[in-house]
Amino acid sequence: MKDLIDQIVNSACKEIKIINDSRSLEEFRVKFLGKKSELQNLLKKIGTLSKEEKPVIGQALNKAKKTIYELFNNLKNGLEISEQDSKLKSELFDLTLPGVKVPIGHKHIISKSIEEICDIFINLGFEVKIGPELETDFHNFEALNIPADHPAREDFDSFYSESGQLLRTHTSPVQIRAMLNEQPPIAMVCPGKCYRRDSIDATHYPMFHQVEGLLVDENITLGDLKGVLESFCHRMFGSHTELRFRPSFFPFTEPSAEVDISCVFCGGKGCNICKNSGWIEILGAGMVDPEVFKAVNYDSEKWTGFAFGMGVERVAMLKYDINDIRFFYENEIEFLKQF
Ligand code: PHE
Repeated sequence: MKDLIDQIVNSACKEIKIINDSRSLEEFRVKFLGKKSELQNLLKKIGTLSKEEKPVIGQALNKAKKTIYELFNNLKNGLEISEQDSKLKSELFDLTLPGVKVPIGHKHIISKSIEEICDIFINLGFEVKIGPELETDFHNFEALNIPADHPAREDFDSFYSESGQLLRTHTSPVQIRAMLNEQPPIAMVCPGKCYRRDSIDATHYPMFHQVEGLLVDENITLGDLKGVLESFCHRMFGSHTELRFRPSFFPFTEPSAEVDISCVFCGGKGCNICKNSGWIEILGAGMVDPEVFKAVNYDSEKWTGFAFGMGVERVAMLKYDINDIRFFYENEIEFLKQF
């Protein structure tokens, strides 16, 4: 029996060496220390032994059990530590590593330019209004003195919906909405998107932004228009900027002008950007045509006003020296990051 006990201990010693995970260790425990283990069977047989053998074998069995239990327990502790270790290792992070930066975006250059433009007019006492991008023929054309057969429609012929509405071709319809809504005095600017059937090139895009301006009150003159636009241009492009009003035509203003500023690139000396003229066009403007007042039921004997409309992309291109309108819309992060 003594030999048998030794054999059991020996094979436990051998088997424990090849165990490297807690499942096989549990199998080991059941096999050598469990209720149905050989040692347990031998223990049951002790009663059948002679008086002399009993204590000897009893002691040997206890010793064997203790030895095997220690083998088991040591490995169990070892495995727990290494399993914890590898779990920790897989979860471990290096506190000294620099953090992962979450990129925070910023406003698009067009949004910023709109804010810059509007801020200047807010300081001059104008309020900001917004109008819909899908407009009626009445607001976009008719009320602005552009009847259905007017040749000016051709430049504007645009994107129509099935219901007969169109994507507005300018922000001028917001003038109409403002005047239909309230009585003078009105001093408002309206930023927003416009749409035209233009082919894409360095200065054209079928969607672009304008800021519209409208001021209606008693005794408003062309001088007021000049003063406001001069203030604006000085603040936007610098106080040395000069303005030039060129006679022009818009169906909704009379007289009308196209306004140029002295070239921001050459200071008026002449370069390729201003085509050697020293001037760059930045907006259209004029005194509100009495026909427009008629359309919104304003008394044109009592009220006078001026309106203007500028292209935001154009202003931004001049101010930030950007030479292609397409840059604004290509989502080229390196370009956008600069502003
Ligand atoms: N609506 C005109 C355009 O888009 C600009 C403009 C606005 C001209 C107001 C005069 C007065 O070209």
